[in-house]
Amino acid sequence: MDQASGLQQILAKAAAQPAAQRAASTPVPVSHQASSLLATGARTPCRAIAVAGGKGGVGKSTVAVNLAMALSIADHEVVLLDADMGLANVDVMLGLTPSRHIGHLLDGECTLEELLLPAARGLQVVPAGSGTRRLAQLNNGEHAAIIRAFDDLVRPPEYLVVDTAAGLADNVTMFAAAAAEVILVVCDEPASLTDAYGLTKVLSRDYGVRRVRMVANMVRNASEARALHQKLARVSDRFLDVVIDFAGWVPHDERLRQAIRRQCAVVDVWPSSHASQAFKKLADLVDKWIEPDRAALDRIAFFGGRNMPAAGVPK
Ligand SMILES: Nc1ncnc2c1ncn2[C@@H]1O[C@H](COP(=O)(O)OP(=O)(O)OP(=O)(O)O)[C@@H](O)[C@H]1O
Ligand SMILES: [Mg+2]
Repeated sequence: MDQASGLQQILAKAAAQPAAQRAASTPVPVSHQASSLLATGARTPCRAIAVAGGKGGVGKSTVAVNLAMALSIADHEVVLLDADMGLANVDVMLGLTPSRHIGHLLDGECTLEELLLPAARGLQVVPAGSGTRRLAQLNNGEHAAIIRAFDDLVRPPEYLVVDTAAGLADNVTMFAAAAAEVILVVCDEPASLTDAYGLTKVLSRDYGVRRVRMVANMVRNASEARALHQKLARVSDRFLDVVIDFAGWVPHDERLRQAIRRQCAVVDVWPSSHASQAFKKLADLVDKWIEPDRAALDRIAFFGGRNMPAAGVPK
């Protein structure tokens, strides 16, 4: 069965299920996970990292694009999934002109492999459509079908970086919860903190996520970044069963805006800028998060959840 018809079948099955059941995950037996790992011949198990934040305009796409590119520059195989369906901008940020998008995958008109778009430095991008109302209104069965399409990649990447949309809707939470790691991008604005808290709450309460990582964006220095983290961690420690780790900070950097205007990633064109150094640090840190043997799946997950952290990460 090819990937496109497989996807059609998943969609047909999802449509036949009641909505609540559709949203729930189907655990993949460990034996299947192990055999699919062998079948793909994966060198290092693939690791999905979702970049989220709740609030719009805090720098989610900027962090996702530059983290993905920094990992790619460090010789990792990386796929960047634009999961901001309907308002995609990763392709614009990287100067790409996709001829197909996720909608074509869902309609069985192409495979995920055929969607992969080469960007600079070996990075590959899965583009979402822009200005497409249908993509902005996908149901949970369709979100699950997109997530599961990655199981069938012939050559899975070492990293899948997922740029998520703003808000708390299922399109954001399903993609974030399906990733092994969630990076919350937060900037020094009250609404950014409250939205990041709200998203963390939904991820922990509804999906059992036990750890997220916070990156402070557009801050002036490390102490400002740490202060932001403390504000968020203090409230979540008190009310939520989730650990928010500090994963670094990105300064406000004019080079970043200039790179965006040139439709390039700043880590590619101005590697010694302050922002680029921060993204390289983040990429180094992400590389240390890998815990390949801790497979545990109780929700819909990228790559069959085979390198999900075990549930119940201790505080
Ligand atoms: N560290 C930074 N320094 C300077 N400008 C930045 C920085 N981070 C982000 N920006 C700018 O902020 C704007 C919003 O960034 P971005 O599009 O990444 O946010 P977003 O959270 O993905 O937004 P949306 O919710 O609309 O998808 C962009 O113009 C970007 O260039
Ligand atoms: Mg964005």
